[in-house]
Amino acid sequence: MITQDLSIALKHLRQGDVIGMPTETVYGLAGNAFDVNAIQKIYTIKQRPATNPLIVHVGSIQQAETFVKEFPEPLRQLAQTFWPGPLTLLLKKSDRIPDVVTAGSDRVAIRIPNHPLTIELLNQLDFPLVAPSANPYTRISPTNAQQVDLYFGDQIPVVLDGGTCEKGLESTIVGWEEDQAVVYRLGALSIEQLESIVGTVRIRNQCEKVLLAPGMTKKHYSPNTPFLVVENVIEYLQQHPEKHTGIFLTGNEDPDQIAPGFYARLQEMDEMGFDVLIASYLPNKGLGKTLNDRMRRASSK
Ligand code: TXA
Ligand code: MG
Repeated sequence: MITQDLSIALKHLRQGDVIGMPTETVYGLAGNAFDVNAIQKIYTIKQRPATNPLIVHVGSIQQAETFVKEFPEPLRQLAQTFWPGPLTLLLKKSDRIPDVVTAGSDRVAIRIPNHPLTIELLNQLDFPLVAPSANPYTRISPTNAQQVDLYFGDQIPVVLDGGTCEKGLESTIVGWEEDQAVVYRLGALSIEQLESIVGTVRIRNQCEKVLLAPGMTKKHYSPNTPFLVVENVIEYLQQHPEKHTGIFLTGNEDPDQIAPGFYARLQEMDEMGFDVLIASYLPNKGLGKTLNDRMRRASSK
């Protein structure tokens, strides 16, 4: 069921259910972060390996402080600048966070989402919410309530409808190592925005150290239709006239402009019966970096 009624969402979360929840980035599958049963349900519904930890969503910086042992000053500045917003911080966790949330790691991923309904939800609850993106493992993240309902409608009691996600891409995940901010997942907050606050950041991509963010697996965000990144879409069409080919992106689009609709368009084109979807990489700046990363993963075997 899809609803805009906050009290229904609150009721289900309080009784330990998992629900679909809007955020400004993508929809999440939310449950009580202190309830091990609710957390298990999330892993089961999402078909996600238990080694892949969950992001804790809180309503205020003060609340975040109670779940961490240390808050390096530069990361605090990022929090003050970009929360509520598409920034997830990886911080040393306090004992209040159950080990299942972090898959045994001593660091917890934490963020304040910027969606009025969800902030209201978090403020009315006396526990934080864990929420992975509301897609089955390796599939495309949903940016509206209907898509969540299509994915999980029969497995969750309710999807709280907060409309179409404003950002349409997951949060950027940032930690602190050896006196430098490290980006573990490119996301809706650009590298340029981060660097305007903390100086040069290090981008640590999927293959370098697999253990750090298990969700950074190479194959991810995948449509069912084969997805190819090509140098030149026109040439590809000329060389493969026999194929029913969908042009996802030509590479000439403005990344910041298309970012919010990126996943929805990929989802839509996936359902159109093409033999193959093709795209060219976008300029590698601003959100172009994030979109290129997603296309690399979508095209990965
Ligand atoms: O925008 C978002 O971040 C969305 C919305 C719903 O908030 N959530 C989201 O969650 O994208 P998820 O679970 O799909 O992706 C979270 C990523 C995963 O790659 C996971 O491995 C990583 O964050 N992660 C979470 N906790 C971690 C931890 N303690 N240490 C390292 N990586 C962590
Ligand atoms: Mg995800």
